[in-house]
Amino acid sequence: MYQEYLRASRRAWVISRLSTWSVRIILFAIANVVILSLSLSFYYAGSITIGTIYMVVYFTNMLVQPLQDIANNLQEFQNFNASILRINELKQTQNVLTDKGSHYLSSGPKEVTFNHVSFSYGNDKTVLKDINLRLGKGKTLGILGRTGSGKSTIIRLLSRIYDPSVGTITVDGINLTDISLTHLTEKIGVVTQETYLYQGNIRDNLTFFNPSITDEDIFTAIRSLGIEDFFSRFPRGLDTIIQPGGGGLSFGEAQLLALIRLFLKQPDIIILDEYS
Ligand SMILES: Nc1ncnc2c1ncn2[C@@H]1O[C@H](COP(=O)(O)OP(=O)(O)OP(=O)(O)O)[C@@H](O)[C@H]1O
Ligand SMILES: [Mg+2]
Repeated sequence: MYQEYLRASRRAWVISRLSTWSVRIILFAIANVVILSLSLSFYYAGSITIGTIYMVVYFTNMLVQPLQDIANNLQEFQNFNASILRINELKQTQNVLTDKGSHYLSSGPKEVTFNHVSFSYGNDKTVLKDINLRLGKGKTLGILGRTGSGKSTIIRLLSRIYDPSVGTITVDGINLTDISLTHLTEKIGVVTQETYLYQGNIRDNLTFFNPSITDEDIFTAIRSLGIEDFFSRFPRGLDTIIQPGGGGLSFGEAQLLALIRLFLKQPDIIILDEYS
């Protein structure tokens, strides 16, 4: 797939370069021929001097770069257009999960149960088969398993990214499907296997531009996690700029930032997927 993409983008690049170059060369060759022949006829008629001819040719050639810039900008504009189309497609995507739940959870530790839960991602392969568990309030559960055994899938079901194919999951005795989805998302905090960090300072990466979260809230979260040492390594503190995709940070450092993010949310159920 990547090879196909590479071939297509290389072809598009070559065609666009060749076409802009050839248009540029042909257009300005024609312009120069026309201007020179016109100028010469005016010169022989005695109405302009050699200096004027030089200026006209010089000014015509000064137009090359701006016209080229316009062509390049048009290309950029087409890229933006394609991106807007894609964003619109994404916005129109319907969630297959129904959000009909009207129940709200109280604050504090929660009890979680899985009752005969089975799940498959829509193909023939059953990923989870008849999972039963009860996790009491305030209890911690660690799940170990081979790669691909379904650990992250359990998390996706508990955070209701998917619904079980068979069986039910309850929180404090309430079926997940009966809980308002937005409310459930607020109550559950997940540090996923992949940490998503964006280009910008650490503060915005932690708060997602939520102005109600103060710097003091962030420092309280850092202190309660006992990771002041880790944080003091950033020379400019919360103003330290992070490169796109978390560049410049190690995997563990990015996960610590994700953990601070999680604590700022103060969820009642905390899930750490492959946290080192
Ligand atoms: N979106 C998906 N669509 C189809 N199959 C999937 C999808 N996500 C995971 N699977 C399959 O489901 C199975 C369980 O995947 P899961 O990610 O839950 O494993 P895991 O135990 O978390 O593994 P790891 O330790 O590598 O993180 C795997 O066989 C995987 O190929
Ligand atoms: Mg996993």
